[in-house]
Amino acid sequence: MKTIYSAIQPSGIMTLGNYIGAVNNWNNMQADKDNKCIFALADLHTITVRQNPQDFFNNSLSFYALLMAVGLDVNKSIVYFQSHVRQHSELAWLLNCYTYVGEMNRMTQFKDKSAKHVDNINMGLMDYPVLMAADILLYGADLVPVGYDQLQHIEITRDIALRVNNIYGDVFKVPEGFIPKVGAKIMSLQDPESKMSKSDPNPNGVISCLDAPEVIMKKFKRAVTDSDTRIAYDPENKAGISNLLRILAVAEGKSVEQVEAECQGLRYGDLKVRVGESVVEMLRPFRSEYDRLIADKAYLLKCAKDGAEKASAIAEVTLNKFKSAIGFVPRQG
Ligand code: TRP
Repeated sequence: MKTIYSAIQPSGIMTLGNYIGAVNNWNNMQADKDNKCIFALADLHTITVRQNPQDFFNNSLSFYALLMAVGLDVNKSIVYFQSHVRQHSELAWLLNCYTYVGEMNRMTQFKDKSAKHVDNINMGLMDYPVLMAADILLYGADLVPVGYDQLQHIEITRDIALRVNNIYGDVFKVPEGFIPKVGAKIMSLQDPESKMSKSDPNPNGVISCLDAPEVIMKKFKRAVTDSDTRIAYDPENKAGISNLLRILAVAEGKSVEQVEAECQGLRYGDLKVRVGESVVEMLRPFRSEYDRLIADKAYLLKCAKDGAEKASAIAEVTLNKFKSAIGFVPRQG
């Protein structure tokens, strides 16, 4: 049995990139009976950047409903809000005392985000990777599926775990990060050199999993390609076309090679229509399931509560093990 752990921030919209790059792979891992899967909405991470309370609340609930709508099954996996499980914050504090300021200062994401939010370089932004380490280590995760941009955070998680284990013996399982093969990186439709991101200033570059079919078609028709006419999977030289082929492969459940072969001879405009239509069909059932779920808040909150209870039970054991190794006097009762 392998423990799989991953999380996503409930900020903004869930993009097609989030689905293909992350959540779709979570579905696949959930389907394997040898995996015990735990997935969190990393809402404590989200407040490292200032959020409007009403939007944050709505986005968080909406993300929970979306995770269920696109395929996570709360009877198979643990799906919960990070903020519902206090052990995350507590372990993050403890781990802070085993993490060096210099290490955090070197984190690429911290440097990028500091440059982007110069007026709000808060301690949480710097401490982000330590909270992430706490997430992962609490559950004794074997494998942590993430995107490329998070690999450095997995590395630091491993360093911290090894450091603690060196001092106190075998406290933490040292996790492995991995990049799922399928559609690891979906790029912006308007700037295929950069990742499809909910914070993309150009909304035409980003597909939301809840976009209406007409909107999806319009965005694909405007997708940036190149001045060539050849359809080929060549991410180096044909970033736009390669991105479309990668999306098409996932939407049609085929390999990139297969869709590349099938699309030979198509004009770029026809390729874009085909990708758009396939994406519309892939997302259609998600939207209707989402509409059904979001209308039943009591049910969503009940699922989240069950998830948090299951998560806490596991997290508490790890936290106590570490606290006792450090030498804290245990609280009685
Ligand atoms: N930082 C991750 C991201 O933005 C989300 C995340 C938070 C995460 N905690 C995690 C991912 C633990 C994997 C494991 O993508």
